[in-house]
Amino acid sequence: MADHYAVIGNPIAHSKSPVIHAAFARQTRQHMDYGRILGNLDDFAGDVRRFVAEGGRGLNVTVPFKEQAFALLEDLSPRAEAAGAVNTIVVRDGGLLRGDNTDGVGLVRDLVSNHGIGIAGRRVLLLGAGGAARGVLQPLLEQGPAALQIANRTAAKAVELAELAVGFTADAHVRGSGLDGLDGQAFDLIINATSSGLAGDVPAIPDDCLADGGSIYDLLYGDVPTPFCRWGAARGAARILDGLGMLVEQAAESFLLWRGVRPDTAPVIAMLRGGGT
Ligand code: ATR
Repeated sequence: MADHYAVIGNPIAHSKSPVIHAAFARQTRQHMDYGRILGNLDDFAGDVRRFVAEGGRGLNVTVPFKEQAFALLEDLSPRAEAAGAVNTIVVRDGGLLRGDNTDGVGLVRDLVSNHGIGIAGRRVLLLGAGGAARGVLQPLLEQGPAALQIANRTAAKAVELAELAVGFTADAHVRGSGLDGLDGQAFDLIINATSSGLAGDVPAIPDDCLADGGSIYDLLYGDVPTPFCRWGAARGAARILDGLGMLVEQAAESFLLWRGVRPDTAPVIAMLRGGGT
């Protein structure tokens, strides 16, 4: 029988993870299947228990359960601890569960490996201070940016996240502020980790906070350019990237944890962008 994996979230019908993992499995000739589970908003723990009891080998966890998965599991990777959230559950022999988080490494791989956008030595602005921002913070800092500024509509949350980040690396140059704390500053890379795009909005940041030659990355992705990608285009960003590459890269890292094989992500990203396989 094929090893069984799934993504759990609510809603879940839109998730691209089954298509991505099916492509990885074909490519690497792994004997596995990958389904989707509409998680019960009142009984996430029960859903996980049932999945494992039925022989499931691993789960991806998505909105709104990542923090619940973190609270549920005792065995957590350091990057899940830093993120305060779990997006990957590995079922070990004997049914023991380990929680990991591959979101941040997925973002870094897409930026650095796929697109050659350096983080080391650069001035980076991270917009947002919710779960998505926290999830990518430590892997970004590990790249050694010259400075990392976290800016959020609610300033206090950015300050709090910046304080947490200082514990991640000894030499972190991290600051937190409100969106109005960006005047007079320019950044080489602006990463949008707010949910503003879901409402067709962009964070209210000054036009000139993108340095000449700077790039933007939106964690959001869609069939048409996201509002923040349009913001970047209107301000002459050198590179404008949405989060589809990150989605595939975080999936590849989960696949590696489960199967011990790293799939080639380029053909899968091309397939999702409609460029065939
Ligand atoms: P997620 O898990 O996607 O991070 P979240 O924890 O609810 O979701 O956080 C949403 C983030 O998007 C927050 O940083 C939020 O700012 P506030 O802390 O001020 O609420 C940010 N956000 C949402 N809509 C926004 C908007 N229209 N403009 C700017 N920031 C916005």
